[in-house]
Amino acid sequence: MKSRDNGGMTELIHNTTIDTLLERRSIRKFSNEALSSEVIATLETVAQHAPSSQFLNDWSAIRVTDPDIKNQLAHIGGQPYIAQAPLLYVFVLDEHRNAAIARSKGVETGDDAFTLTSSYRYTQAQNDAVLALHAMETAAYSLGLGCVVLGSILNDAAALVDLLGLPEYTYPVLGLAIGKPDQEPALKPRMPRSMQFFENEYPSSDERLLSGLDTFDDEVRQYYDLRNTERPVDAFSDQIAVNAVDAAVLNKSVLPLAQRQGFRLDR
Ligand SMILES: Cc1cc2nc3c(=O)[nH]c(=O)nc-3n(C[C@H](O)[C@H](O)[C@H](O)COP(=O)(O)O)c2cc1C
Repeated sequence: MKSRDNGGMTELIHNTTIDTLLERRSIRKFSNEALSSEVIATLETVAQHAPSSQFLNDWSAIRVTDPDIKNQLAHIGGQPYIAQAPLLYVFVLDEHRNAAIARSKGVETGDDAFTLTSSYRYTQAQNDAVLALHAMETAAYSLGLGCVVLGSILNDAAALVDLLGLPEYTYPVLGLAIGKPDQEPALKPRMPRSMQFFENEYPSSDERLLSGLDTFDDEVRQYYDLRNTERPVDAFSDQIAVNAVDAAVLNKSVLPLAQRQGFRLDR
C-alpha cells in the first residue's frame, strides 16, 4: 500500500507501528464478525495506558452493546454505520469518579473550593479521553481491525447524556466504532508537512502559511470518497470555506450542557 506522501524529500523510517499509523484510514463498513473478549480486553487495557494529565485518569468509556442504544446513537449521529459497529464506545470526560473519591477523603465538592469542574480541568480531561481513544484506535488497527471516530454523536449531546445516564461532572467527548473492515477506502491525503509544522514560531504571513495549498487542493479533489461516490470531493480550501460559516455548529454549543452537568467553565 502506498502511504501518504510525507511532504518532503527525507525518507521516512518504517516499522510496524509507524506503518500502522501511516496507513490508517477511517473505516465505515464492518463485517458482522464479533470481536473476542481477548481483543476487547486488550483494546481497553491499551486505552488505560495512555498518558493522563496529573494522573487524574479523568475519563471513562461506555461500551455500547445494546442494539437499541446503538440504533439511537446512529439516529443522533445521522450515520447508520454506527448501529452496525461490532464494537462501539462513547468516551466521556469524567470528574464524577474523582469527585466521589475526593468526597470519600472529606473534600467538600459543593462549594467554590472544588476545582475539578474548572475550565482547565474540563479541557485536560477531554485531552485524556482523546488520547485514550486514540491509543485504542491505533491498537485496533495493529490487530487488523478498522475504526471510525464519531463526533456526530455530539449532534445532540444532551440526548446522549440522557441515553447513557451520564451523571454530574461528566461530558461526552467522542465515539469510536471498531470492527473488521468490509471496505478498502483510499488513504486520504494530508497537507504538506510545512503547512502544519513550524520551527520556533508561527509563520508571520498568510503567504508563507498557505504555500502548498494549491497542490493540496488538487490532491484532495482527486481523493475518492466511498461515502459519496456520486460527486467529486471538494478542494480542501472549499471544504474549509463551507465549514467556516456552518451555522449548525451553533446548535452544539458546549456551555449550556456543561453547566447542566455541573461544570463551571467560566472559572
Ligand atoms: C474528532 C473527530 C470526529 C469525527 N467524526 C466523524 C463522524 O462523526 N463520522 C465519520 O464518519 N467520521 C468522523 N471522523 C473521521 C474523519 O472524517 C476522518 O478522520 C477524516 O475525514 C480523515 O480521513 P481518514 O481518517 O480516512 O484519514 C471524525 C474524526 C475526528 C478526529
